[in-house]
Amino acid sequence: MRVLGLETSCDETAAAVVSDGRRVRANVVASQIALHQRHGGVVPELAARGHVTALIPVVRAALVEADLTMADIDVVAVTSGPGLAGALLVGVNAAKALAYGLDKPLVTINHLEAHIYANWLTATGTPEPVSAPAFPLVCLLVSGGHTELILMTGHGHYTHLGRTLDDAAGEAFDKAARLLALSYPGGPAIERAAAGGNPDAVALPRAWLGDNHDFSFSGLKTALLREIDPYRLPAEPTLDDSALFPEHRPPIFRAGLPVADLAASFQAAVIDVLAVKTARAALALGARNVLLAGGVAANAALRARVSAELGAQAPPGSTPPPLRVPPLEYCTDNAAMVAGAAYYVLRQGGQAGWEADIHPRLALVATGAGTDR
Ligand code: KG4
Ligand code: ZN
Repeated sequence: MRVLGLETSCDETAAAVVSDGRRVRANVVASQIALHQRHGGVVPELAARGHVTALIPVVRAALVEADLTMADIDVVAVTSGPGLAGALLVGVNAAKALAYGLDKPLVTINHLEAHIYANWLTATGTPEPVSAPAFPLVCLLVSGGHTELILMTGHGHYTHLGRTLDDAAGEAFDKAARLLALSYPGGPAIERAAAGGNPDAVALPRAWLGDNHDFSFSGLKTALLREIDPYRLPAEPTLDDSALFPEHRPPIFRAGLPVADLAASFQAAVIDVLAVKTARAALALGARNVLLAGGVAANAALRARVSAELGAQAPPGSTPPPLRVPPLEYCTDNAAMVAGAAYYVLRQGGQAGWEADIHPRLALVATGAGTDR
């Protein structure tokens, strides 16, 4: 089954073709980073307009990359939520038009479920699909809008173990980058800066919140702000530099701000809590695999730390459940994960009707429980 997937929930316009939920035939992502960078974050209307202009060229590029025509596509899948309303509308309407015109099934996909199913994908050019993740599994889903620890007992069967009580992990990275005047998006910028720093240089708090599986990152952000504040120069009251890219704006810190050490210490504080709680949940629940998903799963330090923590927490003599991570290009937003998830959703009877709507605040629900499924 060849699925054409579309993804327009935030600031990436993406199209992909995936066979049978696993083999990626094409994966094209047009990033809007340049469009939003000067604003330090995503501007919803600009994002929606960007999708309007980019989507058809991106779909054509995906078909060319897959060496297929529209007639070879069996199913059209699209993210219907959560995400920015205007951005989602562009993708959902385009997918409806394509599916209607081709007389093929339409599948609407939960963006969070798609991130999880990125772990089933096998990248283009790799010889044989590796074995699929084994159930039960524990997945740490860490993106710009979500931080959730999920128990998955079968396809489409999710139990929430914990979630963030305030900022998402990716949001925390983005805010920390903004405080340090690093570029947008913040996660990769913090990771790059942290590479030259000492994670033990600055003592930053970890919100353990007792034995539960919830997270909190807002206190950490405030602690980082307190470290940075003594270096802040008084603002220039007459200068409106908001139209300039951050790197062209006048300096806002006096010399000596230990950017690398602060970035490394911040990253370590976020990762510590994510890794310890994920490993604890996985071992307590007898998970056979541990998965990472979402944009923050691209972080190399997080991958290494979760793996190490599983080994450290496993009882002596026992083998910890293996960590699975999606290939890097399927961690941040892409359409291959949408096309991949659609195969499993459709197998469970999840075809959408033509009345399918967008769901900007959609939560992760068991497949079949959603209204458009
Ligand atoms: O999954 P995603 O692409 O979009 C959402 O669904 O939100 O995740 C984007 C988030 C951003 O907050 C970004 O800063 C973060 O993922 N991110 C990272 C890294 N790459 C992206 N965070 C930490 N380290 C990275 N290497
Ligand atoms: Zn995402």
